[in-house]
Amino acid sequence: MAAVLSPFLVAGAAAQDRPAIILVPGAFHQPLVFDKIIPILREANYKDIYAIDLPSVGEVVGRDRDVAAVRSVLDKELGKGHNVLLVGNSYGGTVIGEAVKGLKSLASKKGSNVYDRPSVRSIVSRKDKARGKILGLVFFAGYLPYIQHVQNPQSKPDVRNISPPYFDFSVPGKVTTFGQGKAATINAYYNDLSADEQERYVGKLPFSSFDSLNATATYIPYTGDFACTYVIGKRDNAVPEAFAQTYITQGGAQFKTEYIDAGHVPFIGKPSESVALIRKAAGENI
Ligand SMILES: *[C@@H]1O[C@H](CO)[C@@H](O)[C@H](O)[C@H]1NC(C)=O
Repeated sequence: MAAVLSPFLVAGAAAQDRPAIILVPGAFHQPLVFDKIIPILREANYKDIYAIDLPSVGEVVGRDRDVAAVRSVLDKELGKGHNVLLVGNSYGGTVIGEAVKGLKSLASKKGSNVYDRPSVRSIVSRKDKARGKILGLVFFAGYLPYIQHVQNPQSKPDVRNISPPYFDFSVPGKVTTFGQGKAATINAYYNDLSADEQERYVGKLPFSSFDSLNATATYIPYTGDFACTYVIGKRDNAVPEAFAQTYITQGGAQFKTEYIDAGHVPFIGKPSESVALIRKAAGENI
């Protein structure tokens, strides 16, 4: 009898294991970039999905506000005992990285069974056991802090000196992507989309706050504290592969690297493929 499992029961059991997913867009971008993937994730039984509206997009505020927006959702879900996967696009990768600072004890140690060893179990506090685990961080075209800039904050350059030529810094406190006109922005972010979608999405890019982009990170999550996946967009013109590799090949960096045949914001042009990578990082065997 026990061997005859109803497919409904199997699906039901799996659905209970689905973690919460926190989705964080990049600079200038609104949570609407996730509109296509949320229904696909729901169909795959993910129920707790949060697309974060970054305070620094359209408002002159510091990065701390972005980090706090993610952290409050993260804390709530962990407090409910839910496991969580964080997904960040471009600058959103910097935000999720900072948001898990201090939570290393909640990192999932899947595969190593570290929590099953008595010596380790004793140092995991009762409080931590009741909380959910952080399954990992997924950086789609991550624009990330470098290890050396966190170790030695004085070495971090001003964002104006390392930004692409289409960034416009002419209005104090604000940054836009329209320094070289609309076509350059489309080429950077939406080169993989249809002309219709290029028009639609390029019209929805507010300014980003200068302070949010120029802030110095205080924590690096990708040197072993958390399971980190870096997704390289093969057609990404904003963080092309060579640029992505400058993060991945740093001494001490530990990423699982994945590829997607998409531009800088893969969720729009390749929603199903993006979801497959998210589900994989969430621990599904697909
Ligand atoms: C931007 O960051 C750099 C490097 O951290 C810092 O020296 C500079 O003062 C910042 N610029 C502004 C306008 O805050």
